[in-house]
Amino acid sequence: MAKVNEITKDTWLRAMFPEWGTYLNELIEDEVVKPNTVALWWTGCMGFWLKTDQNTNIAVDLWFGSGKRTTKTANMLPGHQMANMSGGRLQQPNLRVQPHVLDPFEVKKLDAVVATHYHADHMDIYFAAAVLQNIKEPIPFIGPQESVDLWIKWGVPKERCIVVKPGDVIKVKDVEIVALDSFDRTCLVTTNGYEPLAGTIPDMDQKAVNYLFKTSGGNIYDAADSHYSISFAEHGKKHKVDVCFGAFGENPVGIADKQTSVDLLRMAEALRAKVLIPLHYDIWANFMSDPKEILAIYDMKKDVLQYQFTPFIWQVGGKYTYPTDANLREYHHRRGFEDCFEEEQNIPFKSML
Ligand SMILES: [Fe+2]
Ligand SMILES: [Fe+2]
Repeated sequence: MAKVNEITKDTWLRAMFPEWGTYLNELIEDEVVKPNTVALWWTGCMGFWLKTDQNTNIAVDLWFGSGKRTTKTANMLPGHQMANMSGGRLQQPNLRVQPHVLDPFEVKKLDAVVATHYHADHMDIYFAAAVLQNIKEPIPFIGPQESVDLWIKWGVPKERCIVVKPGDVIKVKDVEIVALDSFDRTCLVTTNGYEPLAGTIPDMDQKAVNYLFKTSGGNIYDAADSHYSISFAEHGKKHKVDVCFGAFGENPVGIADKQTSVDLLRMAEALRAKVLIPLHYDIWANFMSDPKEILAIYDMKKDVLQYQFTPFIWQVGGKYTYPTDANLREYHHRRGFEDCFEEEQNIPFKSML
């Protein structure tokens, strides 16, 4: 065992980071997805891993970065999306409040890297590097134009990148990825440095897309950072949606970024989804929200509006299998001790516990 004089900041970081080590990497690798189901893992923020019954693995918006790490940073730069939106300049206290549950450098099997848009919490240079270093096959990096521009800037070979715009369909083994319109108005007010936006019409299709992942286990709709839009109804009419993900959070005063609980219920209803799963509310200290609000409002409205979907409250690092888990409302990590009393106890006397 190491002694205190051998311990350094580096040994601490190596031993303790990422917080989950390779635990989740191993769970995902070992999972054998049952026929006609699809397995999903939430890796935090809007990041999720999708695995099919044909052992196809797709990583969407995986992000291994952090938020604020010091109080000493300068104000937001003019041109930051939140500065553009709010007219504020004070640095936002967006600390990352979830552990890192996956080790990007231990990912060994992957079929596609997918991004919805180029915001810093949806694309990751460490993950891009890990994929290029450790995955033998030349798997594609799929995203809208500005995401691809960023990957290329980082050094991802251009020929590995696939630009998608709404309407495009990309086949990754047994999964059909349909790119759809995004309604991410925060992305629309994101500029590279200060650019006057008044009177301009930014091109959403270059910046962000939503996706539908069609699998033999069901269709997964990823609204990513989309705000609420009546056009969810169009997507729901044109496509069969089983599970839908949306970005939930408590918007600070002066900000319209995350969907509210009511927005998300309306989204799931409009998409004609079977399951609604809120994401994103977990990650930022200044946007956290209690997802049970969604359950409370769902219960108020489900009978009168005859909702046809179930909301599901997940936990980062947890697995959700569709349709197996279609009727669950809340996730709990495995609680363990399934083998209790299979061996002799070692306690002083029987009645003490
Ligand atoms: Fe975003
Ligand atoms: Fe985001």
